[in-house]
Amino acid sequence: MTFPLFPAGNACPQKERLAPGAVFLHGFALREETSILTALRQITAEAPFRHMLTPGGRRMSVAMTNCGPLGWISDRSGYRYGPVDPESGKRWPAMPEAFLRLAIDAANEAGFPSFRPDACLVNRYEAGTKLSLHQDRDERDFSQPIVSVSLGIPAVFLFGGEKRADKAERIPVAHGDVIVWGGPARLRFHGVLPLKAAVHPVCGPYRINLTFRKAG
Ligand code: SIN
Ligand code: FE2
Repeated sequence: MTFPLFPAGNACPQKERLAPGAVFLHGFALREETSILTALRQITAEAPFRHMLTPGGRRMSVAMTNCGPLGWISDRSGYRYGPVDPESGKRWPAMPEAFLRLAIDAANEAGFPSFRPDACLVNRYEAGTKLSLHQDRDERDFSQPIVSVSLGIPAVFLFGGEKRADKAERIPVAHGDVIVWGGPARLRFHGVLPLKAAVHPVCGPYRINLTFRKAG
């Protein structure tokens, strides 16, 4: 007897519910892998990774860049979204078609069919880099979800509760994995544990994370 749960062409063989409004799509980005990595190289050629400053003046250990109409920026005057890369004075690179398709498809798969991101933050981690627990709350409309795509070396994603002190679940993430959180999960605290040294055949010693949001 066969179980045609995942008919041919279904790009999401493993969908795991993490919490109400939060879904883990294992390997969901793999089908677009080549076009995503090609587009990523073009973005970082135009808008190279940089270590932004926190409002307190500390250099962030995660290197960042952006694509899309709005980019997430941190500096001494605070956190915000803006259309222009402060390093170049030019607009952030356009959101590649493959990125947009991936984000919309993942959100749809997770139950958010009207997601239309206007911002993609690209984070680069290396061994030892971590991201402290935080909420994503610089966006205007919390009815829109977050779509987070993991590429490169493995990491442990922390998925916490609505309060910083709530216990966070530890979720191993690997190349191609996508996590979507929205609705009742939209303001859950999240972060990334310090990365262990590793080498990925395509991304080298790095983990790259694409975070898609509707910011404006
Ligand atoms: C973020 O919260 O901005 C990124 C999370 C991640 O790198 O997985
Ligand atoms: Fe975040």
